Amino acid sequence: MLEKLLRKKTAETETSLSDRVQSVKSKQVPSHVAIIMDGNGRWARQRSLPRIAGHHEGMKTVRKITRIANDLGIKVLTLYAFSTENWKRPKMEIDFLMKLPGEFLSTYLPELIERNVKVEMIGNYDALPEHTKESIQKAVEATSRNDGLILNFAMNYGSRLEIVNTVKEIAKLAVEKKISIEDIDESMIEAHLMTAHLPEPDLLIRTSGEVRLSNFMLWQLAYTEFSFVDVLWPDFDEDCMVGAIEEFQMRSRRFGNVEGEKL
Ligand code: IPE
Ligand code: IPE
Ligand code: MG
Repeated sequence: MLEKLLRKKTAETETSLSDRVQSVKSKQVPSHVAIIMDGNGRWARQRSLPRIAGHHEGMKTVRKITRIANDLGIKVLTLYAFSTENWKRPKMEIDFLMKLPGEFLSTYLPELIERNVKVEMIGNYDALPEHTKESIQKAVEATSRNDGLILNFAMNYGSRLEIVNTVKEIAKLAVEKKISIEDIDESMIEAHLMTAHLPEPDLLIRTSGEVRLSNFMLWQLAYTEFSFVDVLWPDFDEDCMVGAIEEFQMRSRRFGNVEGEKL
């Protein structure tokens, strides 16, 4: 009896999630969603587990959210996986985090290929350990011809470093007289960022209740809608993701104008 009831309850929940997905899809879905995946350590601490157990659990959320993002018709999903400041963490935790892309991609690469997902990365690739580079490279190559959702990992990414590098590249062009100072404009700066080929994020989600950017996409987020969700990343699920998009669809984006842009 209880089992039957539970089955019915599960079926009801599933129906309502798929109804919500359909309703979200009938309106304007954000093209680019960026997520600061935060709260793995606290999730583990709540269970008296080591922090790395939280990171391992968080990997399952990455799979879940990639699937739902694909189903929703989102074009780009950028996930902040490791910041340039995260090198301050204990070596053991860093070592584990550097192994996660390998584990994630070796487990889910066939699924990503099957679902037409294209894996990309932004961040300082050269400074990653060899084995991390190899697994990312392998996934990027294996999915390079896919033209569905772009799953973009921000790995060893820091926005200030990205801006410093952009300034250096543009300064070099000026010194070499390939451009004049007057040529420098917003679009030139954008063209030198690591996200040059991507649309700007429409929606930024940060999990765990922290309300800060932690050096993430400072330029790109100038007109992005923000959603700070009080759920730890390993607990963030399809329901939370659809909820964030529903909230986004109720916002009025004005871009400095008077009238809101109808979503
Ligand atoms: C996010 O979880 C994952 C990374 C930053 C790599 P945290 O490890 O920051 O978890 P908290 O914030 O300590 O709970
Ligand atoms: C931001 O989270 C970086 C990632 C999610 C990869 P942190 O947990 O490192 O940020 P702070 O230190 O709390 O600002
Ligand atoms: Mg954190």
